Amino acid sequence: MNASPTSGPEALDIVIFGAAGDLSFRKLLPALYMAFQHGSLPPQTRIVCVGRQAWRDAEYHAFVSEKSMPFIAEEARCAEDWQRFLGVLHFVSLDASDASRYGALKAVCERSCLRVFYLATAPSLFTAICAHLHGAGLIDARARVVLEKPLGTDLASAQAIHEAVGQYLREDQIYRIDHYLGKETVQNLMVLRFGNAIFEPLWRAPYIKSVQITVAETVGVGSRAGFYDGAGALRDMVQNHLLQLLCIVAMEPPVSLNADDVRDEKLKVLRSLRPMDLAAIKRDTVRGQYTEGVAEGKSVLGYKAEDGVPPDSQTETFVALKAHIDNARWAHVPFFLRTGKRMQKRESQIIIEFADQPFSIFGRNPSQQPNRLIIRLQPEESIHLSLMVKEPGSGMMLHPVQLGLDLQSSSTKRRAEAYERLLLDVIKGRLTHFMRRDELETAWRWVEPILRGWQELDDKPRSYPAGSWGPAASSALMAREDLSWFEEA
Ligand code: BG6
Repeated sequence: MNASPTSGPEALDIVIFGAAGDLSFRKLLPALYMAFQHGSLPPQTRIVCVGRQAWRDAEYHAFVSEKSMPFIAEEARCAEDWQRFLGVLHFVSLDASDASRYGALKAVCERSCLRVFYLATAPSLFTAICAHLHGAGLIDARARVVLEKPLGTDLASAQAIHEAVGQYLREDQIYRIDHYLGKETVQNLMVLRFGNAIFEPLWRAPYIKSVQITVAETVGVGSRAGFYDGAGALRDMVQNHLLQLLCIVAMEPPVSLNADDVRDEKLKVLRSLRPMDLAAIKRDTVRGQYTEGVAEGKSVLGYKAEDGVPPDSQTETFVALKAHIDNARWAHVPFFLRTGKRMQKRESQIIIEFADQPFSIFGRNPSQQPNRLIIRLQPEESIHLSLMVKEPGSGMMLHPVQLGLDLQSSSTKRRAEAYERLLLDVIKGRLTHFMRRDELETAWRWVEPILRGWQELDDKPRSYPAGSWGPAASSALMAREDLSWFEEA
C-alpha cells in the first residue's frame, strides 16, 4: 500500500486485527462504510486491515466488496462511495502472534496520529497483539484498543487478559465492547428512565412485581460451532448482553453521563446480584438445547446435528433464570432473564410488570391484567404500556389495551447500527457505553458459580424443538411464582 504521509490532529488510523473474519466483514466494515458515507470519520482516516492472508490491497478490496456488500442496507449502496471507501482501506499481511512481523505494520502506521486498534480476533491473541504493538512502538499515550467479546471464559481468564493488556494500556485506553450498549433502543432505555419524571417513583419495589428480559433469536449456531460449543448461551449472551440490559433497567440514576458515573452505577447492580448456591441453581435456572424443528417456516437441524457440533454435546443453546438484586429498590422483585437460539421469533424485549391493584372495585374480572411496560428492542423498536379500559356496552367490564409508541417512526433521523455508533464513540474517546474492567469481572463472579453448579449437578440441557419458546421447564419457572412469560400471558 502507499502510506499516506499526512498527519495532524485530525488524522486517524483504525487498525483491525482479524480483518478477514466474520465480524469484520459482517459488522465492522459495513459500519465504517456508513460512517464514511455520512462524513462522520475524520478527513484523514485510514483503515488498516490486518490478516494472515498474503493479499495485496486489490485482493482484499475484492474480498470485502463481495463479503460486506450484503450487509449494507440497499439504500446505502453507492458504487462511487464504495470506491472512495476502498481508497482508505489497506491490507497488511501479518501473523498477529509473530512479533518479528510487526515491522510491516509499523512501516504503514508511521505517521503520528490517533490510532485505534480493533482486536476482532480470538481472545487468546489479545495479549500477544498488545505486547507486540507495544514492542513495535505503536502504542502511544493516545492509542485506543477495542476488545471484542468474549473476554475470557471465566473470571480467571478474564482477569488474566486484563492484567496482560493492562501492562501496555491505561484503563481509559481500553474499550471493551458489548454491542448491545450501542443499540439505539438500549441507549433509549436510559432516556426513558431518567428523562421522564413519571416513571422514577414507580420504578421500584413494591410497585413493580417482576421484570422479564428476553433476547430470543431464530438463528441457530450457524458456522460458529467451534466457538459456541465451548461457550454456550450463558457465556455468550447472559454474562454480557443480558446482564448489561439488567443493569440499565435496575441501576440508580447516575450523577452524570460521564463514563465512570454510569459504570459505577452498573457495577453496584452487578455487585447486588444475589449469588446462586446449588439449590438456587437447581431451582431457578433452566438450560436447554434445540432439537430439529421448524424455524421461520423451514425445517432445521437440531443443535447436535449442526456442522462442527459433537453429537453428544451438552452445551446449552437456551437459558432461563431467575435473579434477585438485593438492594433497597429491588428487594423481592424477581428478574427473569431468558435467551435462546432457534426460538419461535426474533424478539428482544423487556417487560416491566407492575404490581396488582391492591383492591378492585370492579370485582373479579377474568380479563384483568397487571399493567405492563413493554420495551421492545428488536426487531422493531417500540414502547407499549398496557392499561385496563372499559369494554363498551352496559356494565363495567374491563379489557386490556396497549398505548403504543413506535420509536422508528418517531424521528426521521437515520438510525445507525450499534457498531457504527460505538466505533464513533471510540474515535471520540467516549467510554460511557463500554464496559469497565471491574464491571466485567463482577459479571463473571456472578455467572461462574452457575457454570460450576451445572457441572456439579450434572445438569444436562433439556431439549426444545427449534421454533418453540424453549423447554417446558422455562414456563414452569415462571408458573411457580404465579407469573408467565409475556407471550404466554
Ligand atoms: C453476539 C453473540 O454477541 O450477539 C451471538 O455472540 C448472537 O451468538 C449475537 O447471535 C446477537 O446479536 P444481535 O445484535 O443480533 O441481537
